[in-house]
Amino acid sequence: MTAAPITPHLDLPAFRRAVDARLERFLDHKARAAADHAMPAEILRTLRDFLLRGGKRLRPLLCACGWHAAGGGDEPDMLVGAAAALEMFHAFALIHDDVMDRSATRRGHPTVHHAISTAHHEHRGAATGEQLGASAAILIGDLALIWSDELLAAHLPPERVAAVRPFVDAMRTEVMYGQYLDLLTTGRPTSDIDTPLRVIRYKTAKYTVERPLHIGAALAGAGPAVLDACTAFALPLGEAFQLRDDILGVFGAPEQTGKPVLDDLRDGKHTVLVALALTRATPEQMTTLLSLLGTPDLDATDAARIRTVLDATGAHAETENMIRTRHREALTALDHAPFPRHVTAALRKIAHAATSRTT
Ligand code: IPE
Ligand code: IPE
Ligand code: MG
Ligand code: MG
Repeated sequence: MTAAPITPHLDLPAFRRAVDARLERFLDHKARAAADHAMPAEILRTLRDFLLRGGKRLRPLLCACGWHAAGGGDEPDMLVGAAAALEMFHAFALIHDDVMDRSATRRGHPTVHHAISTAHHEHRGAATGEQLGASAAILIGDLALIWSDELLAAHLPPERVAAVRPFVDAMRTEVMYGQYLDLLTTGRPTSDIDTPLRVIRYKTAKYTVERPLHIGAALAGAGPAVLDACTAFALPLGEAFQLRDDILGVFGAPEQTGKPVLDDLRDGKHTVLVALALTRATPEQMTTLLSLLGTPDLDATDAARIRTVLDATGAHAETENMIRTRHREALTALDHAPFPRHVTAALRKIAHAATSRTT
């Protein structure tokens, strides 16, 4: 008689709570150390609010899925630490992204640079307040980046460092390249679709889906078959996730996304959505797009005119198609993945949530 297979537990809500508790403990410890040296309390307060007030925690959850995909058992301390490190790194990436994108809200609250700028506005004047806000956000983001490394190292046995480090290093390099490419193409949207696809592969697909899965899998000692299967699932899903983000960035409801809805148009982001519209536009539609995209004082009426063109050209519908195709591709990859069944089921749910989200 064979024993019934043991299904290791994959309780994602409980894992999320464990990650948040780890982040809180870490920040408490840092706050005490800062107080001992009479450092400004607003640094820790700002980062704590940013981390604990929202966020889908997609990267930590995928890290846990990677662990289980590679046959890891009960979630050890080091996995929670690695997942918390990913979320801390994400705080860094978002705080800096909001400076670069000049975004005023994130997760339903003022962005870090905006909040600090507003707080100092009265005493120092608008221009100095803005400069201070951006500079402070750079430093608070830097702290999150450094502390993500501390979180990772704190629980990682030395023999696992060599397995995980290459994936962490790759993730950090890829996202910086992706963000840099994003900057270079901003303000000059064209009908070229390959470039924004490359941008989203680096700034989002690898950073948000592929590498978190790899990091969890590598912690559990995954071999090439599991790692490759993670990639086959992750890249199409990650691209679909960012294509959805691009749609929400123009058509979304700020009270749901927690993010502004004019920024991408005001900055003239070269998204797939905009590139598709430029490919298909009539001369008149082209004039509308090129005269409005990237105008610093773009208002709600201008945005409505752009949305009309994005719909009329079929660019919006085609982007939805691209999301569907990539979602299907990700699910097909799961059909062939050598993962335990309960992990495949969890990843299917995540794929659905990531592509049909409104937040
Ligand atoms: C935002 O990431 C940045 C992108 C890569 C699109 P998320 O959509 O995962 O943001 P939070 O963590 O849930 O706020
Ligand atoms: C953010 O990309 C990607 C990273 C932070 C790595 P976006 O600038 O498109 O994302 P949102 O819309 O501000 O979250
Ligand atoms: Mg950005
Ligand atoms: Mg942004």
